[in-house]
Amino acid sequence: MTEPTLLSLYPGVDAKVTVDRNFTAGTSSAQIWFNDTEQFFCSMSNCTQTADTGGIIWACPGIRCQCYSGSAICGPGIAGISLKTIIESLNGAFTLTCSNTSCLFDEIELRPLFSKGIHIDNCTYGECIYPSNIIAITGVAQPSSLNPDSVAAIAIFSFLAAFLIATCCLAKRRQIILSRQEVVATSHGVRIEWRNLGYTIPVKREKKRTDNHENGTKVERFATILSDVSGAAEPGQVVAVMGPSGAGKTTLVDILAGKAKSGKTVGTILIDGKPINTREIRKLVGFVDQDLVLPPEQTVFEALLFSAQLRLPESVPLSEKKRIVEDIISRLGLEGVRNRRIGSAASRGLSGGEKRRVSIGLELVISPAILILDEPISGLDSYSAHMVIRDLETLAKGDNATTIILTIHQPRSDIFQLFNRVVVLAGGQTVSCPIGAPNEAAEDFKNRGLESPANYNIADYMLDVALQPALLARAQSHGKQDEPLSENKTDLTSVKDDADDPFTPKTSFLTQFSLISARNWQNLVRNKALLFTHVIVAIVLGVFIGGLYYQSPVSIAGFQNRIGCLFFLLALLAFSSLGALGVSQPFYFHH
Ligand SMILES: Nc1ncnc2c1ncn2[C@@H]1O[C@H](COP(=O)(O)OP(=O)(O)OP(=O)(O)O)[C@@H](O)[C@H]1O
Ligand SMILES: [Mg+2]
Repeated sequence: MTEPTLLSLYPGVDAKVTVDRNFTAGTSSAQIWFNDTEQFFCSMSNCTQTADTGGIIWACPGIRCQCYSGSAICGPGIAGISLKTIIESLNGAFTLTCSNTSCLFDEIELRPLFSKGIHIDNCTYGECIYPSNIIAITGVAQPSSLNPDSVAAIAIFSFLAAFLIATCCLAKRRQIILSRQEVVATSHGVRIEWRNLGYTIPVKREKKRTDNHENGTKVERFATILSDVSGAAEPGQVVAVMGPSGAGKTTLVDILAGKAKSGKTVGTILIDGKPINTREIRKLVGFVDQDLVLPPEQTVFEALLFSAQLRLPESVPLSEKKRIVEDIISRLGLEGVRNRRIGSAASRGLSGGEKRRVSIGLELVISPAILILDEPISGLDSYSAHMVIRDLETLAKGDNATTIILTIHQPRSDIFQLFNRVVVLAGGQTVSCPIGAPNEAAEDFKNRGLESPANYNIADYMLDVALQPALLARAQSHGKQDEPLSENKTDLTSVKDDADDPFTPKTSFLTQFSLISARNWQNLVRNKALLFTHVIVAIVLGVFIGGLYYQSPVSIAGFQNRIGCLFFLLALLAFSSLGALGVSQPFYFHH
């Protein structure tokens, strides 16, 4: 605007006016700007357009204007003059006459101030239409330049896609490398000997005050779970660790299996006479937990094949893995239930004994040199228990001569006779560890003045001894170990690794990921209730969130709403995944 009166009132300001006209509705609005800050705006209606020699005339019968509070023209502003009252009381006829690039802005009630109207020069014109109008007219979509938001979104997605592709390529490369590794021959049983094993756990930390030291010192107290426990198992033997509840059987086999323990373990474990550390032991041992971790939705064959695919080297072809699984199925007498689902407490499947044999089979796929089982017959009837121990005996006597160690509470005499050696524990200490057959255990007890009553199950008698302090004291007074023991008290974990044999997982991340994903999908499809719940939850959530954010406006508030919605969805996904992890966690950790 170059109107001299206005410029004299507000010298130095860059004054502009913007006007828009809606011909169809006959409405119009105008905004007045000083130095790019809007001062006031006006709206007009019932406008019409005519043309004469002076130019195009846009005439409106009335005008209503509104000030922006605090603006220069409506407040004390630059010149110290407020035109607020005048501007907001304007109501006269308004005309805008334009010719080429200059216009004349005229309002009757402003004539006392601007007698010739307000001149506007260097006007530019434009038209606001939607892209759809252009397509409707020309039939061709107009090329649209990308806005910065789209560019940012494309950049983020490209980065994520590149990251994903790079990860997949690396994983694939690792899979190929592993698949070229030499196939290791089936493991043969080894002699395992444990000497002076001790296990302690910290129970309390307390501050001890002394007279001399006001601050006191921290004292750590330990509970001894195992103390000076020794024994051995030869290839082809089934060794039973017996004892009453709380004797330390599980703790002992956990240590022998190289499981991570929270307490401190001391002593020595020797494999074929050579000291070994916990990490190395894990490579030799297959461990069957007392609590069965079986996939309820898979069949026996599928579960065993899953274990074989996950734990056998990539280089073993699938056909060979299937052959190994079939072999295990026939060795464990599971042919009749080969294609039956394992089932769970909610959906009945295999019997307890069959489940126990499947869990043994899961370990046998890697043909471990040592197989350790914690309470393999707990909860089984005497026939099933007998069958499981028989299977283990057959396994030990097989070509691989697998070394088998198991824990047991109170075996029947027929089961007791199947063991090659019995280690009796009481209160975390070895009571007896005869080198020969169970009959020698009875002999060993007899030599200590502990003779089992006639027609009494020797296994029961051994437990009685372990439970009765008087008898236990007599057993231990005759020397509790049967083999010469060293005074070695080294920390088990301190034994050095074989430097030439770094630990490498047998299957790549990609194989593990695809196997677990396929298993999860299978689980979801077969578990109708789970599938139904997933679908229903997805629909309900979709409708709920869709309803909440329906027609969210394209504005700052709308943007914030969308961010909130994304955050909510991601949090929901993360928490629901955590829940699933809790359910499947024992299974994955086991494998
Ligand atoms: N991490 C631990 N924290 C506290 N106590 C422990 C821990 N580990 C083992 N114990 C204790 O050590 C003792 C031996 O436990 P362990 O599980 O080895 O016994 P068990 O002979 O296997 O018994 P059961 O026949 O009932 O399975 C128990 O009294 C147990 O409470
Ligand atoms: Mg136990």
